[in-house]
Amino acid sequence: MAISLTDRLTRLKDYLPANLAPELSGRLTRSVGLTLECVGCPMVVGDRCLIQGETTGAVEAEVVGFEDDRVYLMPLTAVEGLRPGARVVPLSAASRVPVGPELLGRVVNGTGEPLDGKGSLKAQAQVSLFGEIINPLNRAPVRQSMDVGIRAINALLTVGQGQRLGLFAGSGVGKSMLLGMMTRFTDADITVVGLIGERGREVKEFIEDILGEEGLARSVVVASPADDSPLMRLRAAMLTTRIAEYFRDQGKRVLLLMDSLTRYAQAQREIALAVGEPPATKGYPPSVFAKLPQLVERTGNGKPGGGSITAFYTVLTEGDDQQDPIADAARAILDGHIVLSRRLAEEGHYPAIDVEASVSRVMPQVTDDAHFARAQRFKQVYSRYQQARDLISVGAYVPGSDPETDFAIEHIEAMRQFLHQGLRESAPLQASIEQLMNVVPGRTEGNPSSVSGAGS
Ligand SMILES: Nc1ncnc2c1ncn2[C@@H]1O[C@H](COP(=O)(O)OP(=O)(O)OP(=O)(O)O)[C@@H](O)[C@H]1O
Ligand SMILES: [Mg+2]
Repeated sequence: MAISLTDRLTRLKDYLPANLAPELSGRLTRSVGLTLECVGCPMVVGDRCLIQGETTGAVEAEVVGFEDDRVYLMPLTAVEGLRPGARVVPLSAASRVPVGPELLGRVVNGTGEPLDGKGSLKAQAQVSLFGEIINPLNRAPVRQSMDVGIRAINALLTVGQGQRLGLFAGSGVGKSMLLGMMTRFTDADITVVGLIGERGREVKEFIEDILGEEGLARSVVVASPADDSPLMRLRAAMLTTRIAEYFRDQGKRVLLLMDSLTRYAQAQREIALAVGEPPATKGYPPSVFAKLPQLVERTGNGKPGGGSITAFYTVLTEGDDQQDPIADAARAILDGHIVLSRRLAEEGHYPAIDVEASVSRVMPQVTDDAHFARAQRFKQVYSRYQQARDLISVGAYVPGSDPETDFAIEHIEAMRQFLHQGLRESAPLQASIEQLMNVVPGRTEGNPSSVSGAGS
């Protein structure tokens, strides 16, 4: 009896491998500068793919744009060994990254692979690189103070749990040192540090010298130095945020330190210019300014009763120019800024925090009235001294001509000492507030009587 065609095909099917789904792939047609072009493969912006190298292994890339039927790819690592016509295979799964308590004390790169030679990472969970976006109305408001272990900040620029601040300074003024002190002295449950686009040498120095064993034990470090591809640097910034989100969702009080937001913006600029977006402000294409809030808005408080991410982002103000477009954009989207002054650093006054130029927008909500009033008083007296500083230094100020200035001269040394903090000296929040109460008397305690014009 003749076997029907259907039966024959059904039998033959058993001999075929199980996963015989056709594999979709495209071809590499062009490589210019940082971007690669591919045809023949339908992919959407944000998709990941693997490009088969000739001699080296496969290179991971991400779709960053398209034109007609060509898609633009940005590789995650170096592209040596790719040839025209190389196969481009789309990856179906979204990017997943390792998270979990095993990350504590570890240093990883932008894809979550360990860099510290302490063996492979057996992370508890793999999560999507993009965390859930919290409805702003469901976020807990910033109401509690956060101890960052720096006296000048704790007392005069008190930070709230879930607040996001910028640390604005030119190069070499002490940003990294200050972040390192915070990691060692903060009372946050966990610190997540993102070293984005800084010098490779600095990564090692930061971990060994600034962070030290003690700081590293309670921290997770994500490092992507300047020689990483721009996409890797962006991923590292996102991974830093994602790890912080994971710990926040576990109910932890997280401190996120990112050094630097400017390098993150520059990585975005490199990508945007490479795919042909026109530059707008000082060479930055508009998409850079859209990307900044997308990163920063992910930190902050979670739902009420949950954990929090208090974040510090360093912002490089080139040539100490506070009008830099990234500095401007950052100032607008952050809830406060701490400015480091080159003049103070040159005088050897560290941390070089310029208390007059710095502001914590949530301070009134997280401090009591007495503390807030005394911090204001400190700033007024300090400011009065700075105004008269030039006159005083050339001996042109006549003591007795202005009681408020006399008062400032009398207290300036104590104030300077209060603001100064050694690298190894911790300054807990309560102790900082108590010291503030002692360093400058309140208005009613032995102040000159004619200070009413001192502004408040
Ligand atoms: N608290 C401090 N005590 C003593 N010296 C300090 C302190 N902070 C910074 N310095 C000095 O300033 C130098 C530069 O500091 P740091 O590397 O933190 O600056 P930066 O702003 O991060 O620089 P860059 O922009 O190059 O990354 C240090 O090498 C050190 O000599
Ligand atoms: Mg630095």
